[in-house]
Amino acid sequence: MAGTLVLGLQWGDEGKGKIVDFLAQRADAVVRFQGGHNAGHTITVGGDEVILHLIPSGILHGDGECLIGNGVVVSPSHLREEIEMLESRRIKVHPRLRISPECPLLFSCHRAVDLAREKARQAGGDEAIGTTGRGIGPAYEDKVARRALRLSDLLDERAFAERLEALFAHHNFDLEQRYRAEPADFRAELDAVLDWRDALLEMADDVSARLARLRECGAEVLFEGAQGTMLDNDHGTYPFVTSSNTSIGAAVTGAGVPLSHFDRVLGVAKAYTTRVGNGPFPTELGGSTGAHLARQGNEFGATTRRKRRCGWFDAVAVRKAVALNGVDRLCLTKLDVLDGLETLRLCTGYRGGHGQGAQVYSARACAAYEPEYEELPGWSAGVAAG
Ligand code: IMO
Ligand code: MG
Repeated sequence: MAGTLVLGLQWGDEGKGKIVDFLAQRADAVVRFQGGHNAGHTITVGGDEVILHLIPSGILHGDGECLIGNGVVVSPSHLREEIEMLESRRIKVHPRLRISPECPLLFSCHRAVDLAREKARQAGGDEAIGTTGRGIGPAYEDKVARRALRLSDLLDERAFAERLEALFAHHNFDLEQRYRAEPADFRAELDAVLDWRDALLEMADDVSARLARLRECGAEVLFEGAQGTMLDNDHGTYPFVTSSNTSIGAAVTGAGVPLSHFDRVLGVAKAYTTRVGNGPFPTELGGSTGAHLARQGNEFGATTRRKRRCGWFDAVAVRKAVALNGVDRLCLTKLDVLDGLETLRLCTGYRGGHGQGAQVYSARACAAYEPEYEELPGWSAGVAAG
């Protein structure tokens, strides 16, 4: 009987998908509990690369259950694409994928608002967040504002259509009046969702109750985090963060399970640091070493194909994430990428910023940090990176 929580300890892309895929071979169920299709979990199966955004990374193995908990924002159109992509590769999705009826839905109006805002921020002289442009922020805002439509709302088709129209009107007002952008197409979205309504409702299931049953029969359950702790809406480099909590508490609320379901907390960190999108990054490397890491590590975003920013391992950030999440097992990925570097640097502290120890991670404080490094001799074993 065990529940394992897998969390990213940096700014995302630590290799969580690969680790979950590996552990899933022995698991009875894998559950996502936060984020949405902003995640990009790249898994290589028999030389073939599969990128999962919304569906738990366990889907590539055997016949374990794959669950999407209430904390995840679900884009019906993206979900459909992802299921079709998997089925075209002969990966069985039905009936293994179950989705909480409490999941808020993400629509084209959210995406349009996300993109319009990013553009406006740049035009207004502010730095854009550098979001994945998937509409994640606006979808979570609707959830908290209590106007979101949930999967269960599809049960009443007429009421769903009315509420969706009101939601589009709300966002289109902002798009047209505030951002001078094209409105989002309510009709096209409604038709697309209703066309797939039966399949969506067939996947709806009480994820929380399912997890309680699995626990009772001693099943192995993996809780798969998305993004990383430094992108947590409360604890990360705010405001350059995502719109959900990515740290331990999110697993409780977003899967709908009590604390007793977690027997281990496995933290995943890369042997160096990467970040996509904007915001502070104390150990970022320009120049040839940064370029070397990007090249050797193939550091391109799995969701947006953006080039990832690269830097040295930041032990201050990882230490903070370990403490915050109660990590009791650590997995270090991509050590092989460091192969061939003459000298390695580890950031063990910061100078500057707010006060002693400088552990405040708000963007403003972080921008003033000077990393303090320990140097170590590198190695050159000629291993192929990947
Ligand atoms: P995985 O699960 C890395 C980043 C974006 C941006 C910020 C906000 O693959 O580790 P959002 O679209 O969420 O509003 O963007 O968060 N971001 C990620 N960075 N890995 C991810 O997921 C990310 N998901 C979001 O680049 O800086
Ligand atoms: Mg990723």
